[in-house]
Amino acid sequence: MQKLIIKGKKELSGKISISGSKNATLPILAASILASSVKVKNIPFVKDIFTMIELLNFIGLKTKLNKKKNFIEIYNSNKNINTLAPYKLVKTMRAGVLVLGSLLGKYGKAKVSLPGGCAIGTRPVDLHLFALKKLGAKIRIKDGYILAEAKNGLIGANISFPSISVGATENALIASFKARGTTILKNCAIEPEIKDLISFLKKLGANINLKGRTILIKESKIKKSRVNHQVIFDRIELGTYMIAGALLVKKDLMIDKIDTKIVKSEINILKKIGVKILQKKKSVIIKKSKKLKKINIATKPYPGFPTDLQAQLMVLLTQANGISKIREDIFENRFMHVPELKRMGAQIIIKEKTAIIKGPTKLTGAEVMATDLRASVSLVLAGMIAENRTIINRIYHLDRGYELLESKLKNCKAKIRRI
Ligand code: UD1
Repeated sequence: MQKLIIKGKKELSGKISISGSKNATLPILAASILASSVKVKNIPFVKDIFTMIELLNFIGLKTKLNKKKNFIEIYNSNKNINTLAPYKLVKTMRAGVLVLGSLLGKYGKAKVSLPGGCAIGTRPVDLHLFALKKLGAKIRIKDGYILAEAKNGLIGANISFPSISVGATENALIASFKARGTTILKNCAIEPEIKDLISFLKKLGANINLKGRTILIKESKIKKSRVNHQVIFDRIELGTYMIAGALLVKKDLMIDKIDTKIVKSEINILKKIGVKILQKKKSVIIKKSKKLKKINIATKPYPGFPTDLQAQLMVLLTQANGISKIREDIFENRFMHVPELKRMGAQIIIKEKTAIIKGPTKLTGAEVMATDLRASVSLVLAGMIAENRTIINRIYHLDRGYELLESKLKNCKAKIRRI
């Protein structure tokens, strides 16, 4: 099994270019089932994306990757289509459940494995099914699979989500494209990745309007012509490297290929902590900060602070002066990095949904275990500021979502290697 070995305390300098967003690419690839021919650019070649591509191939689409230029071409001839998403492909990547909306919308039936729980919480799909049922789908659960059917097509409906879910909003949006009449989705997630999906669906011919947390979708025809789309940058990858810079920059760390207006709230929070950030439209420069300050914060749906940056922020707060608090409001079990950080010397207490972090604390290298994608990267950050050597096990979690992590960090003088 592969491990990462990090020699800590190496200052960072240079430039990091941000990859395309994994969480934007996944629903766009799932929605490509609706199209005849698409070219999706700026996709990150990480494990979850390869799994989604494998799923599209399994369903019967043809895919052509260009790994040098980070794009994929997808063709759907509508021949030999398998409206099935098997367990082996959905179990490692929950986003597999997003093909439910496309298959049901286009072919009137789908059999999709239930994704099951995962390390960070139970993560049910009841909200996805709630929306699809409102659109007229008949849904049964059998042998661990969701069996969905809409023989005469889906029908537009007025749907108000009882709570905000990124995935359920995406599935409902994709399914509504071909639903008869008009669909209104209320209390939607409005993450930038959802806006990117909307922009992709519009290029496919969809008639979609977003206002506040409400999305209006009018029945439309799918274009036969080829669609080109460029995926937005990965704001979580950006946040991770901004935090790396805040912890370790020598003088300047430039991060580019981004759009700063999308990450205003993250940048403001880092500034509040005392991180020096020079902002341009398409890049940021992290400068050496004098003193980091404590903060109290809770994770929230966009435009709030993202749960996907919670673990990384916690590492930053181990170096801030005073007692900080982070409340995790999205997932019920997303503090698994805490015991590992404590083994490295961090002073953190968990009280129900809140982590209380005392800083600044000296961290020392240890052998630690990655438990999920974002927890793993927080251990990388911790290893980079710790004295001596840190060994991170189970790094397959990292490979699910961070493109070229080691080479991006090595280019900025970090001492990190994979064995
Ligand atoms: C997506 C992101 C993930 C991010 C999360 C929250 C992708 C591929 N993944 O995950 O990185 O951490 O948004 O920003 O984009 N829930 C239900 N019932 C449902 C669906 C969700 O109760 O049917 C709950 C979840 O358990 C969780 C909360 O709603 O507590 C938010 O989950 P959701 O927004 O759906 O996350 P994902 O789409 O799975």
